[in-house]
Amino acid sequence: MKKNIDWENIGFGYYKTDYRYVADYKNGSWSEGKLTTDENIVISECAGVLQYAQTCFEGLKAYTTQDGSIVTFRPDLNAQRLIDSCERLCIPPITEEMFLEAVDSVVKSNADYVPPYGSGATLYIRPYIYGSSPVLGVHPAEEFQFRMFCSPVGPYFKGGAKPIVIRVTDYDRAAPHGTGHIKAGLNYAMSLYAIQEAHDLGYSENMYLDAATRTKVEETGGANFIFVTKDGKVVTPKSGSILPSITRRSLVYVAKNYLGLEVEEREVLLEEVKDFAECGLCGTAAVISPVGKIDDHGKEICLPSGMEEMGPITKKLYDTLTGIQMGRIEAPEGWIRKIV
Ligand code: PLP
Ligand code: COI
Repeated sequence: MKKNIDWENIGFGYYKTDYRYVADYKNGSWSEGKLTTDENIVISECAGVLQYAQTCFEGLKAYTTQDGSIVTFRPDLNAQRLIDSCERLCIPPITEEMFLEAVDSVVKSNADYVPPYGSGATLYIRPYIYGSSPVLGVHPAEEFQFRMFCSPVGPYFKGGAKPIVIRVTDYDRAAPHGTGHIKAGLNYAMSLYAIQEAHDLGYSENMYLDAATRTKVEETGGANFIFVTKDGKVVTPKSGSILPSITRRSLVYVAKNYLGLEVEEREVLLEEVKDFAECGLCGTAAVISPVGKIDDHGKEICLPSGMEEMGPITKKLYDTLTGIQMGRIEAPEGWIRKIV
């Protein structure tokens, strides 16, 4: 029986469900994972995660499709990205197989929390790994825990598909050769001040520039950028210090192979943003959130698509991607993992 939740009106927040997955790394190997009903964690006061932020995470969603199945979208890519994050943070990586089994069991055991088809909500899944053993000198922990919980969620930005206003920020998110390309908790800790300031000033997100030259568009705190040129080309920033978004990589494929659009993955100068026709933020949480206006230090860049609705190409990308995720449009081989 589905839970009695007001699916249409939930926001993006934590909602406790019945089961979560946990596995431990001790004495050089990962234990077999299991489900638990206990949402609390007891760890050393000196745990590596608490002292030196040795932790990384992932984010993916489970969807109820048109035919009533429950599926996940390209979870193998989340597994690989978590493995990449682990390597960069000196965390012993889990295997793709372990990751996929954990996703399946968390979703299956919480099936009553997967929002119904057409409700606009989805089940957000949050896998994470952290250093659990005591660490005082700066070095990696010796013991780790891999956990995964889930939470029904609605739109990441209030207003759903309404265009948002963002600002160009003077804070940096990631250094060249730093950790911007992995999903480390530390990248988000250092963005909190900037996002709080942005929210206080009325902006929904920050546009980060490249830290070295401050001339190129990187990403926001929680999503990659997709732009559309006036002649209908899709342009998306390429950088070694942004998170390789699975949504963005999927949209590039959809644009080329489903919509027949030309796509450029390249450096994007802040200077050229004023010439684009459409702009959107893409990510698991954001899906594709249209940007209507960008404030660059008092200079307003107003996207021609305006503040009322998504631009036409952004809308096509959105409809095709969500159509694939919800089973209305045939997916490329291997993109959909059926769970129930
Ligand atoms: N960029 C950042 C900084 C993110 O936190 C996310 C969210 O995961 C993304 C981009 C989008 O990535 P994905 O599409 O894989 O969710
Ligand atoms: C996601 O889209 O999964 C993220 O992790 C973004 C986060 C800011 C909620």
